[in-house]
Amino acid sequence: MSRYKHNLTSCIEPSTATVLGNVANCNLDDFQKAIKSAEIAQQEYYENTSASQRGVLLRKWYDLVIANQDDLAVILCLENGKTISEARGEIIYAASFILWFSEEAPRAYGHTIPSSLPDTTLMSTREPIGVCGIITPWNFPAAMITRKVAPALAAGCSVVVKPPSETPYSCAAFSKLAIDAGIPARIFQICPTKDRQAATELATNPIVRKISFTGSTGVGKLLAKLASQSLKKLSLELGGNAAFIVFDDADLDVAVEGAIQCKFRCSGQTCVCANRLFVQRNVAAEFTRKLTERVSQLKNGPGLDPSVTQGPLVNRSAVDKVIEHINDAVSKGAKVELGGNPLDNNPGFFFPPTILSGVPKDAMVAGDETFGPLAPIFTFDTEEEVIKMANSTEFGLASYLFSENVNRCMRVSKKIQAGMVGVNTGRISASEAPFGGIKESGYGTEGSLYGMEEYQVIKSTIIGNTHR
Ligand code: SIN
Repeated sequence: MSRYKHNLTSCIEPSTATVLGNVANCNLDDFQKAIKSAEIAQQEYYENTSASQRGVLLRKWYDLVIANQDDLAVILCLENGKTISEARGEIIYAASFILWFSEEAPRAYGHTIPSSLPDTTLMSTREPIGVCGIITPWNFPAAMITRKVAPALAAGCSVVVKPPSETPYSCAAFSKLAIDAGIPARIFQICPTKDRQAATELATNPIVRKISFTGSTGVGKLLAKLASQSLKKLSLELGGNAAFIVFDDADLDVAVEGAIQCKFRCSGQTCVCANRLFVQRNVAAEFTRKLTERVSQLKNGPGLDPSVTQGPLVNRSAVDKVIEHINDAVSKGAKVELGGNPLDNNPGFFFPPTILSGVPKDAMVAGDETFGPLAPIFTFDTEEEVIKMANSTEFGLASYLFSENVNRCMRVSKKIQAGMVGVNTGRISASEAPFGGIKESGYGTEGSLYGMEEYQVIKSTIIGNTHR
C-alpha cells in the first residue's frame, strides 16, 4: 500500500450492495513516488539476488499463501462475491503461479551462440525489463495478481500494481504475505485508486518499461496508445466472445459438464466463459434439456453460504447488461428455457442462471460478451457453417468444442481463431498452460514456460579476442 498521504474510497460488497470497507485512493503524486522508488529498489534487488535466491523468496511467499488460504478465501469471497468454494479454488490457482515461477526463476537460460567472426564469443542472456506496471481485474482479485507479479519478481523486476477498485483487498493481503516472506516492500508496490488519470501514469511514465493489463479491449487499446510514447513492452489479456461448439457426435453429458465449468464459473464473469453455445441441430433439443436440468440445480446466494453455487455479479450495471442481452434475444425470437428474470427481494447484485434457445444470429449477445450467467443456444447444421459462426467476431481468446471424433477435434481446433481451445473440456486454465489471446483479445502469454519472458529482455554480449 502506498505509504504517502491519500484520500479514502469505499468498496461495495456485491452480496449486500453495502460498503465493505475503505481503501486508499492514490493520486498522481503517489503513483510517481511509487514508480521512482520501485526503480531504485529494482536495481538493488537484481544486483543483490541470484535467480535461485529469487526462486526461494517466491517459494516462501507461496508457503505463506498456502498457510493462510482460508482467510484469503474469505477476503476474496466478500469483496468479489464468488462462492467460498470458488474463492478457495482461486487461492490455490493464484498460489500455483507463485510456485510455478519460483521454479522457473533459476531456469532463465540464455545461449552461447557460435559466432561467424573469428576469435569471438557470443552469448545471449535474459535480463529483467525493469519497473513493471501491473493492472488487474476484479473477477480474479488474487490469481491475476500472482500470474503477473510472480514472473516479474522471478525475472528480477519490480512492480507497481494498480489493483481493481472493486476488489483491492486480496491484492493487499497477497502483498503483505510477500513482504512477510522477505520480498522487499519497494519491489512490490501497490497503488489502489479510482482516479483513472492518476493510474494513467503507469502507461506514460518513461521509468515503467512494461505494462501487463487484464481487462476490457477498450482500455487495452487506450493503454497501448499511451504506452507507445515510450515504447513500453505490453501484455494485454482483453475481452473474449468464446464459442462453445457441440457436435452431434459429442458425449452430451460431457458437453453439459463443460458448459457448467466454463459458462457458470464465477457467475459467468470470466474472460474465458463460453459466450455463444453452438449446438448441432439434431442434438439441440436433447442438449438443451440436459443443460436445463443440470443448471436448475445451481443455487444463487451470498458466497459465504456453503450450499450456494452462484454468487452475485459485481455491480448493478453487470446485472443490467444481462437483462439487456436477454430482452434483445427474446424480442428477436429466442425462447427462455430457464431463469430470465432478476431475483425478487434481494439487495445484492444477483441474477439467476439463464438459458435461451433458438437464439438468432443477429442477437446482441452474438457480438458482445455478456459477462454474466446467460447461456444463449444457437443451432447449426454443418462443420463449415459453425467454424464461420465461431470466427465471426473480432475477439479470439478461448473456444471450446465437443466431439468424440478425434479427426474432427484436430481439424476444427486448428481452424478456430482463438489463443486457447478446450476440446471435450470446459477447464483450460492452469499455471503450466500458456494463457493468452489473438485478434482483439490482445497479445502476450501468461503462465507456462513462456510467462517469464514477458518480463525480460534479451541481451547479446559479443566478446572479441577471446582466443588469445
Ligand atoms: C480471466 O477471466 O481473466 C482469467 C480466467 C482464468 O484465468 O481462467
